[in-house]
Amino acid sequence: MQVSAADIELAKKSTLEEILKRGELRVGFEAGYMPFEMTDKKGNFVGFDIDMAKEMAKAMGVKFVPVNTAWDGIIPSLITGKFDIIMSGMTVTQERNLKVNFADPYIIVGQTILLNKKHEGKVLSYKDLNDPQYIVTSKLGTTGEQAVKRMIPKCQYKSFETETEAALEVVNGKADAFVYDLPFCVVFMAQQGAGKLVFLDQPFTYEPLAWAVNKGDPDFLNWLNNFLRQVKNDGRYERIYNKWIKG
Ligand code: ARG
Repeated sequence: MQVSAADIELAKKSTLEEILKRGELRVGFEAGYMPFEMTDKKGNFVGFDIDMAKEMAKAMGVKFVPVNTAWDGIIPSLITGKFDIIMSGMTVTQERNLKVNFADPYIIVGQTILLNKKHEGKVLSYKDLNDPQYIVTSKLGTTGEQAVKRMIPKCQYKSFETETEAALEVVNGKADAFVYDLPFCVVFMAQQGAGKLVFLDQPFTYEPLAWAVNKGDPDFLNWLNNFLRQVKNDGRYERIYNKWIKG
């Protein structure tokens, strides 16, 4: 049997076609990463990524379907088709990029430190934490965890399932410092830091956050990058940014 160029084209997976046919954009994320994706008191998902996902679905003319997923299985879930895209504050890393494609970054962040107040003035940067006397926390499977292991190798590292638990450990004085993405630390500091924490807010890593999609789908990536450029320049990005981040 003769295989035509058109057959090959058809066999290629086009996520965009599937979304349009289904009438739904299924977005994978893990709620808890403030202010990008959280669960509000009524149980609704809210935040920067959620609002952007809603704009995206609107621009496609389809329904937004949130899919809350555990962080450590989020890439396998994308690959096995549980959702169409990861919009979850994911840092572009070379390691992840071997498994998925990333659209252009939508924001740049970096690791910062929430320090127990008893160390105020003594610990001034991540370098001062590089000592076995310090217990440092972060979240399992994140770039925060990677930064601690790579850049603060001599501390005692303690991993947590959620970012909030990891930060509370420092509030409660059971750990000395929490290392995590700047925007989360800004929100946590404002909510629970007063009188308990010191915020070392100079990022010490470079972390572009981007939407992740399955490999081999240039149609979808092209649409996403053009959508991103458009929202960044027509006021939609600014409105969402000011609502959740500029505060
Ligand atoms: N930017 C960090 C990373 O990619 C943390 C992201 C956590 N996101 C979440 N929705 N819990 O590892």
